[in-house]
Amino acid sequence: MPDTAAPATGAAPATGTLAQQRNADRELNAARLLRASAKHSYDPLTEIDWDAPLDPDQYALPAHRVSLYGTPLWERLDERRRAQLSVHQFASTTAAGIWFELVLMEGLIRHVYAGDLTTRHAQYALTEVADECRHSTMFARYITATGYPSARPTARADRLGRLHFLLNDTTMTFAGAIFVEEFTDAMQREMVRDESLQPLARSVARIHVIEEARHIGYAKPELERRWARMTPARRAVFRRALALLSRQAVAELVHPRVYALAGLDPVEARRAAAANPHWRQARIDWSRKALDFFTEIGVVTPATVRGWQRGALLP
Ligand SMILES: [Fe+2]
Ligand SMILES: [Fe+2]
Repeated sequence: MPDTAAPATGAAPATGTLAQQRNADRELNAARLLRASAKHSYDPLTEIDWDAPLDPDQYALPAHRVSLYGTPLWERLDERRRAQLSVHQFASTTAAGIWFELVLMEGLIRHVYAGDLTTRHAQYALTEVADECRHSTMFARYITATGYPSARPTARADRLGRLHFLLNDTTMTFAGAIFVEEFTDAMQREMVRDESLQPLARSVARIHVIEEARHIGYAKPELERRWARMTPARRAVFRRALALLSRQAVAELVHPRVYALAGLDPVEARRAAAANPHWRQARIDWSRKALDFFTEIGVVTPATVRGWQRGALLP
């Protein structure tokens, strides 16, 4: 859909139509985000000491946030293997991050292609692409540094990403971004706060948290604007599709190879993780902010909570 945002004009004229007012608000928001980007953007390739040795006994995630924490399989692992499992879980999470960021970048480029690059709104979209380019490279460096063997997503996620390219649905791009960005924000804030964790993982999390806050501030009003214009029939399809995409994004956090690397049977380990109340609570806690927002604007309704409960994204 063509983007009709007008070039930046400062404050909206008092006599402007509602559409002009909305474009002016959109431009003000984008101008604010561009200023924040100019002040607080990081180059992870130079900001992070990639050559510092890693302590094999240090966790990358708090122990109670590892998918197998508290299960009989967890009890079988010694401390070092538990720490390693947490590092591989975070490496797998960054691989899922790369998958999602590539899908998001394609959506943002399409958004700019349909719009007008003289608007601050479109200029910010490209700034966000630049952030995500650095993030995906940073995640790949983390994967390499930890010896995790691949940045590839599961075949299912790969197919879903390709489907998103085909469907060309920018509104879904923004809604998916809100879910994934709020979810990882909540997880990574816990990592930044916990000084006992691996410094490399915390550096990656810190840069990501700072830059993602802007992305969330860009996507939320955009989704609200698009949602307001959506027909009831399209909303019904959208609600189901977003829950499916979000469930898949969360399922992608722990690739089965994480368990295989720990010497566990991936099928048995996935089953144990799925039944683990600690892991269920982690997913609910990290989903909360996105789901509060979706509920507030009507994307999630009491009639559609089941799609979210199925992935343990809602209690
Ligand atoms: Fe990112
Ligand atoms: Fe982002």
